[in-house]
Amino acid sequence: MKALLCKQYGPPESLVLEDIPRPEPGEGQVLLRVRACGVNFPDLLLIENKYQERPTLPFSPGAEVAGDVIAVGPGVGSGVGSGAANEVREGDRVIAMIGSRGFQEETLADADRCVALPDSMDYATGAAFTLTYGTSYHALVDRGRIAPGETLLVLGATGGVGTAALDIARNLGARAIAAGGNDAKLETVREIYDVRDTVNYASGEDPFKDRVNRLTGGRGADVIYDPIGGETFQQALRCIAWEGRILVVGFAADGVNLPQARTNLLLLKGSSLVGVFWGRFTRESPVRSARNFDTLFGWHADGRLRPHISHRFRLDEGIDALRAVAERRVVGKCVVVMDD
Ligand SMILES: NC(=O)c1ccc[n+]([C@@H]2O[C@H](COP(=O)([O-])OP(=O)(O)OC[C@H]3O[C@@H](n4cnc5c(N)ncnc54)[C@H](OP(=O)(O)O)[C@@H]3O)[C@@H](O)[C@H]2O)c1
Repeated sequence: MKALLCKQYGPPESLVLEDIPRPEPGEGQVLLRVRACGVNFPDLLLIENKYQERPTLPFSPGAEVAGDVIAVGPGVGSGVGSGAANEVREGDRVIAMIGSRGFQEETLADADRCVALPDSMDYATGAAFTLTYGTSYHALVDRGRIAPGETLLVLGATGGVGTAALDIARNLGARAIAAGGNDAKLETVREIYDVRDTVNYASGEDPFKDRVNRLTGGRGADVIYDPIGGETFQQALRCIAWEGRILVVGFAADGVNLPQARTNLLLLKGSSLVGVFWGRFTRESPVRSARNFDTLFGWHADGRLRPHISHRFRLDEGIDALRAVAERRVVGKCVVVMDD
């Protein structure tokens, strides 16, 4: 079977498409025929050896997949459902978080990290959904406790988690302001998610915080969703509303020089800085996480969600897929879709 392999660390161009042997599922594992693989920024870090996890070489990148279970290992059993290992069966359509090795035709997954792919979803949507919608629902509902009618400022609003936050906020009755660094991409999300106000923090007008304060009648935003960090975080501290919540989701702008908060700014607004770590939440609170997905999958089945995939590539175009992410061309998600 074909795999797009990282044999030595480097940029996307250093990946090579090769035939590799089919892996055997071990205890608690399933073998998947990969039908689609979501592409994420950490895939780039992984192949350049800049990520906290370091799979042994050679490996293919690709952390979240949707596909069909074609074999099960010992201890894996009798029907998919809650994600428990003994409920996954051969023939099931599943979504799986695997960390790496998604850019290949077949891959192994831990059975207890698989969830049933809803009937309402195609494989590409399934491979693009879990990380982004899981993170943003957990952030807004569990951590931000956002209420209908509140104002939500989404930074990095054109990206994977940002677009999911806009989509979820719409369903929760919050008023979203979409912020990003590219007018054309902001215009796209405005149309998809019925967003009234957008703010480009890269444009040279007056400070970003002043524009947010103006849009909110001087109050500031009740909840600020921040997957970016950097200078925009400093501005966020200055346009949060009284008793507002700033959700620390990620550091897309600079993963090395992390922003610091002046605590007097929090005091003056009675505001809170709230950390969001979805991966750990799924391990610490699997039942609550499953409940969140019941809600999200229900909304999807009812046609209430609009997950957006701006770029699709074949496996032999995987380098272009990683380039699209690296060059900030994607709106929503980029997905590698396998040939039939
Ligand atoms: N806490 C958690 O549990 C959790 C879960 C998932 C992801 N994350 C983190 O959240 C962040 C975003 O993830 P994502 O999947 O949404 O990524 P993404 O799809 O690549 O989107 C990130 C957005 O950030 C903007 N951006 C990219 N590089 C930037 C830079 N150098 N400076 C300023 N803006 C930049 C881009 O928007 P424009 O080009 O339009 O400006 C892009 O659309 C990542 O750091 C990721 O690790 C955290």
